[in-house]
Amino acid sequence: MDMTSHSAIFSEEGQGWESRDFMHILIVDDVTDNIQVVMNILKEDGYSFSYATQGTEALELIERDFGQLDLILLDIMMPGTDGFSVCQTVKSNPLTAQIPVIFLTAKTDVDSIRKGFSLGAVDYITKPFHAEELLARVNTHTQLYQAKKVLQQNNLALNTKIKFEHKRLLSELENNQKEMIWMLTGLMESTSDETGQHIRRVSELSALLAHYHPALSDDDAEIVRHASPMHDIGKMTIPYEILHKPGRYTEEEFNEMKAHTSNAYNLLCCSDRKLMSAAAIIAHEHHEKWNGKGYPRGLKGSKIHIYGRIVALADVFDALTHSRRYKKAWNIDEVVNYIKDHDGTQFDPELVAIFLEHLDEFAAIAKIK
Ligand SMILES: [Fe+2]
Ligand SMILES: [Fe+2]
Repeated sequence: MDMTSHSAIFSEEGQGWESRDFMHILIVDDVTDNIQVVMNILKEDGYSFSYATQGTEALELIERDFGQLDLILLDIMMPGTDGFSVCQTVKSNPLTAQIPVIFLTAKTDVDSIRKGFSLGAVDYITKPFHAEELLARVNTHTQLYQAKKVLQQNNLALNTKIKFEHKRLLSELENNQKEMIWMLTGLMESTSDETGQHIRRVSELSALLAHYHPALSDDDAEIVRHASPMHDIGKMTIPYEILHKPGRYTEEEFNEMKAHTSNAYNLLCCSDRKLMSAAAIIAHEHHEKWNGKGYPRGLKGSKIHIYGRIVALADVFDALTHSRRYKKAWNIDEVVNYIKDHDGTQFDPELVAIFLEHLDEFAAIAKIK
């Protein structure tokens, strides 16, 4: 054999590194005759080989070709870098640590055997050895390594599949929630004074405010889009005569009306689903005012959840730009003036600034019928 080419592959068909028809073994020994003996024994079982006669050469080969190696047969006593050091380097590199190493050595003392195993070798064969013994041990460890790799690949495939399925189920759940919200909203439309168009526009306006808010994510904007339609779901709990009363409310009636916020919250707050819990917050806080003079709790400033502050502005903007039983639609300038006048009292100044900066987009939503 040509011992000048240390990375040569010795297989019956002379195939290269890429061929995986053969399991590939790196033999490291400073005595070339020893390498030849091992190759003669193992080639009967169809292994292909590369070899190195020095520790440093072995490490170079391993670093270059680790993906193709199924086993390393490693002598211990070699000039320069010895087999123990080679093993230590191989086992400390995550890329090569999994490759099984068998020491093949004339060192028979217990300390060397102990050291060999403690460095991570899977086996330790002492010279002289029987051909059958070498073959059996090499076969065992290459097969174990193959089985381990197959198992790892299967695990990986399984994990990917589980993750995909988990994601699919989650999005199905989320779609179910969205569907449920719009169904409830439709029900509300038939029992309260809210119209379907108002609800849809508030949803769009709220999502737009969330979208431009620097502290909120795309995810927040989607949550607000799908949770805001429920802002007045609590009106379903208010008696018909009060809800549809033509004139002004008495104080008692107004108090009863105000309860649509906390009634809805009590209904929705138990859910740990993100859309439902966002809807609970919005229903509870969309009548709170920045200056603390809103209801039901008189929360002030940033104590009001940002979702609540957003829907408060969207709700009023849409109510003013459209006609109701008791009032005509205001024109856009009148509405803008109202919002400016209530900047920092009724509304969060940061949201008013966003609203004014993107007024065109909000006005376009107001025109949706
Ligand atoms: Fe309301
Ligand atoms: Fe509303």
